[in-house]
Amino acid sequence: MKKYSAILILIFIIGFLATSCKKTKQQPKKETTTMHNANQMMMHNMKFEKDNRIALDMSPQKAKHQLMNMRNHVIAVQSIIDYLSKDQYEKASKLASSKLGLTNDMKMMCSSFNNQKFEQLGLGFHNNADKMAKIFLTKDKNKSLEALAITMKSCVSCHNTFKQKISH
Ligand code: HEC
Repeated sequence: MKKYSAILILIFIIGFLATSCKKTKQQPKKETTTMHNANQMMMHNMKFEKDNRIALDMSPQKAKHQLMNMRNHVIAVQSIIDYLSKDQYEKASKLASSKLGLTNDMKMMCSSFNNQKFEQLGLGFHNNADKMAKIFLTKDKNKSLEALAITMKSCVSCHNTFKQKISH
């Protein structure tokens, strides 16, 4: 009788251990929400291939216009980096405020999508560009690069949030 109960207890213990091991194995890995660099962020996007971006509703003509605007933004950023590398801070500042700052055109563009979040991100971006233009005038390269990084963070956060409905 004693032998049987000992065997039963043993089976019980083995069973218990087996299920608890399984549980720990099955526990999903905690995803890190803070990504430290662009490389990590891109790897994250590729790994999950999830597209949670909000699709903006717009006419094909407007979509084309928006992309043109965007390509001009890249050109502006490229020119700014070029100017900064040559210590031409006034030129970098002028270009930043005229091409990326909050002009009336940009204001109108940002509010024309009938989307508050988009408008908020858009205006935030243009305001950061204006702040950056002022920082360039201090002629401090490190501060200038820091300001450029902040402005470009606005590009990235909008791109992570929105897409054109038409393209995909
Ligand atoms: C307020 C939102 C917003 C901000 C800020 C923003 N973008 Fe965009 N951008 C978009 C959207 C939306 C698209 C379309 C993406 C899609 O449909 O996949 C886009 C597309 C682009 C494209 C693709 C153009 C093409 O021809 O396909 C480039 C390049 C680009 N953005 C550069 C920039 C740069 C550089 C900045 C900052 C200096 C910036 N964008 C800031 C919203 C934004």
